[in-house]
Amino acid sequence: MSYLEATNDLYKEAALTPDVGLCCTTNPIWELPGLKIPRIMQEMNYGCGSTVNARDLTNNPKMLYVGVGGGMELLQFSYFNRQKGGVIGVDVVDEMLEASRKNFIEAEAQNDWFKSEFVELKKGDALNLPVEDNSIDVAAQNCLFNIFKAEDLKKAIDEMYRVLKPHGRLVMSDPTCEQPMNDTLRNDDRLRALCLSGSLPIAEYVKALTDAGFGTIEIRARKPYRILDPKNYPTEELIYIESIEVAAIKDPMPEDGPCIFTGKAAIYYGEEPYFDDNKGHILLKNQPIAICDKTAGALADLGRDDIFISESTYHYDGGGCC
Ligand SMILES: C[S@@+](CC[C@H](N)C(=O)[O-])C[C@H]1O[C@@H](n2cnc3c(N)ncnc32)[C@H](O)[C@@H]1O
Repeated sequence: MSYLEATNDLYKEAALTPDVGLCCTTNPIWELPGLKIPRIMQEMNYGCGSTVNARDLTNNPKMLYVGVGGGMELLQFSYFNRQKGGVIGVDVVDEMLEASRKNFIEAEAQNDWFKSEFVELKKGDALNLPVEDNSIDVAAQNCLFNIFKAEDLKKAIDEMYRVLKPHGRLVMSDPTCEQPMNDTLRNDDRLRALCLSGSLPIAEYVKALTDAGFGTIEIRARKPYRILDPKNYPTEELIYIESIEVAAIKDPMPEDGPCIFTGKAAIYYGEEPYFDDNKGHILLKNQPIAICDKTAGALADLGRDDIFISESTYHYDGGGCC
């Protein structure tokens, strides 16, 4: 059996019998006026963070969500996009599609504003999406892509890139790990399907996105996720896994490379009211400006003693350079 088949089997089980501890997020559910998330959706929250932010949902975007789980995020997105078929949900596991379909009926009963028809559920594979080219404004996946091995991950990202409109965004949450993992862990299909042994270091994860052509990357959050310890897992050392929330925007690739925002800021504290680098960045005196890592490097290379550049906070929420 291939690791993809093992993954399908695991999520078939998780669809038939909700497993509260399957994936694990510390993110609270959305608390918004008139939005009620049915308990069954919360029990089937198999994500590892949040994906789309409310600010991604302006102007009725056409949305795609791959790997539907219990449907909780689809319901949350529908809150801002109340139109028939406004959100397409794709999953390869029939039982998961069926479970989410049932959960939407429960959501209708608890939310006056919600209609199941807001979500169009489609059977399909992340590696071959049943979606037209350049048709989606906002695409999302939560805790699925980390399961894929390198070649499949590339296919999945290329597929998302294909279906997004120019300047559309792919918003994701996945586990990441900065430590090496041994081959026993890496090749354990069940641990991989459980989102425990497929994760990449952040830099490799980001490179997979920029290699596909995404010109802007935002790392929006970085949080503790899981521990693999020698008593419970085939590892001799303790392995710390985090989860990150990332947006990859289908902006054209800048000639000097992608803009990757990791939460750095620059603060000018010299004698003048502002500093202008003549490359489009104006730093007002003593006011932080969010900068991408490329701009951080260019400002640092100036060797000035009146510009402070912060470390990456891995908490970027918009604005700034580029
Ligand atoms: C870890 S769960 C995450 C579910 C949901 N995103 C959430 O946050 O609760 C992975 C989801 O991806 C689905 N899935 C697994 N392999 C897939 C594939 N190749 N293509 C599309 N969906 C897949 C599973 O059925 C499951 O719904």
